[in-house]
Amino acid sequence: MRLDFISLFPEMLKPALSVGVVGRAVDKGAIESHYWNPRDYTSNKHRTVDDRPFGGGPGMLMLPQPLDDCIVEMQQQQQAAGVEQSPIIYLSPQGRRLDQALVKELSALPAITLLCGRYEGVDERLLEKHVSIEVSIGDYVLSGGELPALVVADAVARQLPGILGHEDSAEQDSFANGLLDCPHYTRPAEWQGREVPPVLLSGDHAAIAEWRQAQSIKRTNERRPDLLSTDNPSKPRSSGSE
Ligand SMILES: C[S@@+](CC[C@H](N)C(=O)[O-])C[C@H]1O[C@@H](n2cnc3c(N)ncnc32)[C@H](O)[C@@H]1O
Repeated sequence: MRLDFISLFPEMLKPALSVGVVGRAVDKGAIESHYWNPRDYTSNKHRTVDDRPFGGGPGMLMLPQPLDDCIVEMQQQQQAAGVEQSPIIYLSPQGRRLDQALVKELSALPAITLLCGRYEGVDERLLEKHVSIEVSIGDYVLSGGELPALVVADAVARQLPGILGHEDSAEQDSFANGLLDCPHYTRPAEWQGREVPPVLLSGDHAAIAEWRQAQSIKRTNERRPDLLSTDNPSKPRSSGSE
């Protein structure tokens, strides 16, 4: 999968793509990353990428022209590399809230472009012209789209085939089957007077699976009842029962 990042701060992004699960995906060739800095597409000597908003108000906005030139060159390069049309995702607090369903949709695409805003955001006309979808990582405002873009990249990388080992399979994660994950324990079996639930030491795989499923439902009920079906609170909403 190809990830193109459009950002004024590629130096924030590159180190994060070199470690952990995402780094492994890059090393294995499952992710190919490209960085595009709108500042390289300015025509004035100060390499200005922002200006004041029409109508007044606080802050600055990203100018449309450097971004447009940057996107046009990126698309030409993608075309030359034989990349299918890559949707441009603008990271924005006003966008569709990122969830596991959207992560799965994105991870099935051959390429996506992540456009990171800065200042008070981007001139609306640029967004109208190029952006396919706006994505938010939650109802709070950050100073830039780089951290949200990394959140998307990390969540997507976990879904790519062969990136996670069997033990940390994404299928067992919270939300994968519509429920929260069950609690987990490792050695020692007794730690500071706290014991591991005996069923996990029993070697009875069916009983362990049953216990884990029951814990998942209990946890979801306690922490995120909104994920459960109202008709059948032992089933996730996404199971098709609603
Ligand atoms: C200071 S924010 C601009 C916020 C904008 N004025 C608004 O109120 O909707 C600067 C940039 O950070 C990014 N950003 C901030 N919060 C975000 C969030 N919750 N999800 C995704 N991107 C976010 C966006 O790319 C945005 O253009």
